Amino acid sequence: MSDAITSVLQENRVFEPSEHFRTSIGTVHVPNMDAYRAEHARSLGDPSKYWGEVARGFHWMHPWQRVLEWNAPDARWFVGGQTNACFNCVDRQVEAGFGDDVAIIWEGEPCSPEPEVRRLTYRELQREVSRTANALLSMGVKCGDVVTIYMGMVPELAIAVLACARIGAPHSVIFGGFAPNAIVDRVLDAQSKVIITCDGAWRRGQVVPLKANVDEACTRLPEVRHVLVLRRTGREVTMHPTRDLWWHECVGAQSDDCPCAAVDSEHPLFLLYTSGSTGKPKGIVHTTGGYMVFTAHTARLTFNLVPARGQVYFCTADLGWITGHSYIVYGLLPNRVPTLMYEGAPNFPAEDRFWAIVERHRVTHFYTAPTAIRSFMKWGDAHPQRHDLSSLLVLGTVGEPINPEAWMWYHRTIGSSRCPIVDTMWQTETGGHIITPLPGATPTVPGSCTLPMFGIDAAIVNERGEELPANTGGLLVIRKPWPSMLRGIHGDRARFIETYWSKVPGMYVAGDGARRDDRGYFWIMGRIDDVINVSGHRLGTMEVESALVSHPAVVEAAVVGMPHEIKGTGIAAFVTLGPDFANSAGAPLKRELQEHVAHEIGAIARPDMIRFTTLLPKTRSGKIMRRLLRDIASGRESRQDTTTLEDFSVLAKLRESDE
Ligand code: WTA
Repeated sequence: MSDAITSVLQENRVFEPSEHFRTSIGTVHVPNMDAYRAEHARSLGDPSKYWGEVARGFHWMHPWQRVLEWNAPDARWFVGGQTNACFNCVDRQVEAGFGDDVAIIWEGEPCSPEPEVRRLTYRELQREVSRTANALLSMGVKCGDVVTIYMGMVPELAIAVLACARIGAPHSVIFGGFAPNAIVDRVLDAQSKVIITCDGAWRRGQVVPLKANVDEACTRLPEVRHVLVLRRTGREVTMHPTRDLWWHECVGAQSDDCPCAAVDSEHPLFLLYTSGSTGKPKGIVHTTGGYMVFTAHTARLTFNLVPARGQVYFCTADLGWITGHSYIVYGLLPNRVPTLMYEGAPNFPAEDRFWAIVERHRVTHFYTAPTAIRSFMKWGDAHPQRHDLSSLLVLGTVGEPINPEAWMWYHRTIGSSRCPIVDTMWQTETGGHIITPLPGATPTVPGSCTLPMFGIDAAIVNERGEELPANTGGLLVIRKPWPSMLRGIHGDRARFIETYWSKVPGMYVAGDGARRDDRGYFWIMGRIDDVINVSGHRLGTMEVESALVSHPAVVEAAVVGMPHEIKGTGIAAFVTLGPDFANSAGAPLKRELQEHVAHEIGAIARPDMIRFTTLLPKTRSGKIMRRLLRDIASGRESRQDTTTLEDFSVLAKLRESDE
């Protein structure tokens, strides 16, 4: 278990829900802790009744017969029901007379003083999604076929996702920052025959060559039949004559009438690849009914969304991650609060990009990651102070534990000490928020994600599944099924059971170490596996190791996380060179290896520190002594980051008994 768990943070400041929030928000869905406790108890006491009531607020083409069938680890929710997630996001609003309400606000990367802004109403969205869905059908995509989407943050990305949902084709969105290799692995695993991409994406004034990356990937993907290409940057791209189609030609020519397919509640809605301890990224499977109900319900509660009250919700995540799926698209649109997407980067053209967006669109809800908050702190208070942030009502964070210092800065400087902060703990696998404050009810403590969401039976246990007393570090588990829980890892049943269901029998093991304090609040202490959380993005240390070993100079590599001021966790790599390269250990080779990893996986995986070593420290049974390497990387054993070859064997011998 990670040594982080033993460190107990002392934090006693408590922030009650603010009067400002209560009076400005209109309706407070959960107004106090008594209401929270009563509702949480009710949701766990009779989950079928609770979720049945929630689900009745959605459109079903065919009603379900049973709310839940649970044969651990297999859950089926809203059994026998038929619905469509796209219908509930889009068509339902149009049919209810809200077709002219704004569904999506989009801001492009500013190329001139005035940024490009697009607002799509539900009616416009319905038309665009229908055309895109018809385009997919015309390309031979059928219900159940996985469509891969590799695009920048443009409205057409949300449109593409919804178009897939409309026809029952599960989507697999790949983050636009990933390299061609990542596309190859994911497309092969999903057996996807169609890819949707852009000619490029804008980022800090540069064009990310998305189409060229797809072309490179396709040299190893003979099964890909079609690539649909959106023109965004206007840069020259190569179009394969039979395979590639322009979005404006293909989608533009379609009818805007495309009925939503009635799919089974358990029909897969999407695959989303995420990193694990071993092997290649795994395709997490989410299904339609449960995911749709849970994400919309939790978005409503966690952010206290109220339609037609002028709320504007801005989540800074990319749609390539689960946060974008759940809390830009699927959880937001059913709540009829405009969701704002932006293209580009937080520090381009200047470091006040987000605050300019908040001011321009009168954003009421702002949701970002702790790593971003630490960058804002570093860039200085002058940037937010230049803007009118008075529209803000709720602030959120996600992706990694937030350090109290960053929490306090967020609270004071962005929230003017009057906006509740919701520190939302969840995972790709959980689909939606599992532990989070509710802004009108939960007193918050900087650094704690506080209490479980309704329907979530979270606990801290030991390996035998016994609940641990307060302030004792243990495994974070969920003991009862919930609607948006992952249904599996695509094509790998054994890995699904091994990863989540075998460590503590009958319970979902999240992979995080945590403790509860005296008031029952949860404190996440960090991953207990070989997953590292770099700037809130999940990476498997093994993926980085494989990338390093694929370089001709490298014989062996061990990657561990190390504390990093901005990223939370940085990547430290210990590398053994082949005999022909022993004399190359030095700064140029370090840089080359860093670039090599960025090229193989994507820039987010570029190691922050590389150290060359003659031998990796191993136990007698041959296991790499990761704890020793973590200590060295974090400066606990030695401060120097030398460029020469190091010999850890003595240190390893001394420490062997610890591992
Ligand atoms: C971490 C992101 C502490 C945790 C939604 C989890 C957090 C992993 C928090 C999932 C939080 C996420 N406080 N840690 N509020 N939110 N994490 O799948 O380690 O990209 O297991 O999902 O991020 O990352 P993922």
